[in-house]
Amino acid sequence: MSADSTPSKETSNPAVDGSELIRFDNVTKRFGSNVVLDKLDFSVASGKHVTLIGPSGSGKTTILRLLMTLVKPDEGTIKVSGEYLSHEERNGKLVPAGEKHIREVRKNIGMVFQQFNLFPNMKVLRNITEAPVTVLGLSKDEADERARGLLEMVGLTEHIDKYPSQLSGGQQQRVAIARALAMRPQVLLLDEVTSALDPELVAGVLDVLRDIARTTDITMLCVTHEMNFARDISDQVLMFDSGRVIESGSPEKIFNDPEKDRTREFLSAVL
Ligand SMILES: Nc1ncnc2c1ncn2[C@@H]1O[C@H](COP(=O)(O)OP(=O)(O)OP(=O)(O)O)[C@@H](O)[C@H]1O
Ligand SMILES: [Mg+2]
Repeated sequence: MSADSTPSKETSNPAVDGSELIRFDNVTKRFGSNVVLDKLDFSVASGKHVTLIGPSGSGKTTILRLLMTLVKPDEGTIKVSGEYLSHEERNGKLVPAGEKHIREVRKNIGMVFQQFNLFPNMKVLRNITEAPVTVLGLSKDEADERARGLLEMVGLTEHIDKYPSQLSGGQQQRVAIARALAMRPQVLLLDEVTSALDPELVAGVLDVLRDIARTTDITMLCVTHEMNFARDISDQVLMFDSGRVIESGSPEKIFNDPEKDRTREFLSAVL
């Protein structure tokens, strides 16, 4: 919410009916003179699937990058699971967080990127087991078992011994999803995970995500241009423009009966 607008029902924070897993309070992010996020407030309740939609450049990826601590807010605070992300409390004061604190809070968050970002020199199995072993301290056997279960879930058991370059884009993206889930994060961030794929590979990846949404209690924060997918999985859709949530609501409400002209205009361009 910006300081110069009074909170109103349609632009106030999303309803929170579980515990709050993610909370942005008054977050501003600038790149030079470009104000990308403008005193942004929003929250995501535990277990919910929230989709961010909005025009290119409106700040959607920046939100996910802030959560991954790839960038830091200029103002405001972000909490994950009740803990400050880029800040910590010392002697009753809020100070920029140290690396150790950031690493601990970030363990709760997994992300899948548009460009897969698999480790090219590691086979599929090791791509998935690497972080659970090095970051979480799982034994190799425990990590292998977890990875095999996830590969079965994403339908890639027979590709376990291949290198990423031997897989299709859709298969690589399913490995990336399994790799994120192997850390058992509380929240999965998905940034246009199908937009780099050939059209015929999109459905397979979306099916895997639909499955995860249906069968796990993981919280999902998703940026997508796949509006049918957003409609299917979302508990809530947030319409973003110029670094602010201009409208939020159920997928039925946002897609069928949006309140704002800007939302209607955006949807008519993408639907
Ligand atoms: N590292 C950076 N340095 C400078 N400017 C940046 C940086 N990252 C993002 N921006 C700018 O911030 C704005 C928001 O970018 P962001 O990537 O969050 O948009 P987006 O909503 O994800 O757009 P798209 O739908 O095209 O992916 C853009 O104007 C972009 O140019
Ligand atoms: Mg983006």
